[in-house]
Order: sequence, then C-alpha cells, then structure tokens
Amino acid sequence: MNDEDLAQAQRRHWQNTYTAHPSMYGEAPSTAAVHAAGAFRSAGARDVLELGAGHGRDALYLAREGFTVQAADFSAAGLQQLRAAALRQQVAERVTTTVHDVRVPLPLEDASVDAVFAHMLLCMALSTEEIHAAVHEGRRVLRPGGIFLYTVRHTGDAHYNSGIARGDDIFEHGGFAVHFFDRSLVEQLADGWNLDEVHAFEEGELPRRLWRITQSRPR
Ligand SMILES: C[S@@+](CC[C@H](N)C(=O)[O-])C[C@H]1O[C@@H](n2cnc3c(N)ncnc32)[C@H](O)[C@@H]1O
Repeated sequence: MNDEDLAQAQRRHWQNTYTAHPSMYGEAPSTAAVHAAGAFRSAGARDVLELGAGHGRDALYLAREGFTVQAADFSAAGLQQLRAAALRQQVAERVTTTVHDVRVPLPLEDASVDAVFAHMLLCMALSTEEIHAAVHEGRRVLRPGGIFLYTVRHTGDAHYNSGIARGDDIFEHGGFAVHFFDRSLVEQLADGWNLDEVHAFEEGELPRRLWRITQSRPR
C-alpha cells in the first residue's frame, strides 16, 4: 500500500468509526487538554486552532473555558458530532469547524492564532516528511510567542513494532495506523522553536504511552 492509499483508507476508517460510535472518546476532556488550557491561559492566548479534533471532547472543553476554537479534522462525521454538541453545550458561537487533511496547507493566514493544540494527531498515518510539513504549517499560522502543544504515542508504547508494519515507524492495529515517535523526531520538530517541555503520560486501557510536547514560536 502506498502513502496515498494508506491515507485514504485511514480517512474512511475514521469516518466509519465516528459514524458507528458517536462520541467514542466521551464528553470529558483529555488530561492533555486540561493542561493545555492552563498553559494557554498563562501565555495570554485567546484563540486556539485544534488539529485532529475528532468529535470535539477537547475543542468543546477549551470553548467552555472561554477560548475561541477553530477545530479541524479530516472526518466530517466527527466534526458534525462536534457541532451538535457545541449547540447543546451553548458554546457554538466560540467554535468553528473545518474539514481539513493535515497533509495539506492550513486555510489560515500567517500569524493568525495564539495557540495550536493537537492531541494524538501527529502520530496518525503521516510520513515523517508530512509531520514536518504539518508542524511547519502550525508555526506559520502561530503568532510570535504562540504555543504549539501536541501529544504523540512513542516508541515505548506496547503497539510499537507490532501489528502490520506500514514503514516509517507506522504500525497498524485493528485498522488504526499509528506513527510512533522517537526522541530524535521530537527534537528535529522543535528545530527553530523553544522546546519548553516533553512530558510522558498514559491514556486509556492499553495504556497508550504518550509524550506531551510544548514548544513555542520565538518572538
Ligand atoms: C486518535 S484520534 C484523536 C481525536 C481527538 N484529538 C481526541 O483526542 O479526542 C485522531 C484524530 O485525527 C484525525 N486524523 C487522522 N489523520 C488525519 C489527517 N491526515 N488529517 C486530519 N485529521 C486526521 C482522525 O479523524 C481523528 O479524529
């Protein structure tokens, strides 16, 4: 399977998964989003771009916390659930959604957002080159001093080096392909940024082993 076939298969898989299991991650925010809200607030951020927002457990939490959120994901089904929940939670005026594949440039102006949040997006079925391009786009749309806070599964995760190998440290389990990060990739992605923190944590029952990385665009 080439990169493009894998990407299209993953988009269909996520679309089908959200359709079959609405709100699959639940309504409560991730611990990463709770941390991000504090970090963004301390930095004086007001508008946040979330990449890979899914059905919006974190985008809606950030909106409830008072941020303006632009939520992007390549699954229209996930974003439809996000919009319905935004209306129910009475935060629709602070949330916009865009169906967007992170492999293509963001439809946003340079230096137009205060913070970028991406929980388990950069570790999807993206090549190393596509991950670099996505982080470069994040930097382009961030204002100087803005924060890019992302999480990724790493090579200490139980699923690393198992399942179907798709190349470039991507392994597929149960139809979900994951690019497992090593420390050198984190450091390369922080080239030209301030690397503020790399924090190890776990999520879910496997558990997934993740890093939460905070890097900021120099002023
Ligand atoms: C592991 S889920 C995390 C969802 C959400 N961040 C959360 O934690 O609830 C990964 C998300 O990334 C999205 N995704 C995967 N590949 C993508 C791509 N190339 N472009 C945009 N979104 C993508 C999926 O649709 C899914 O919503």
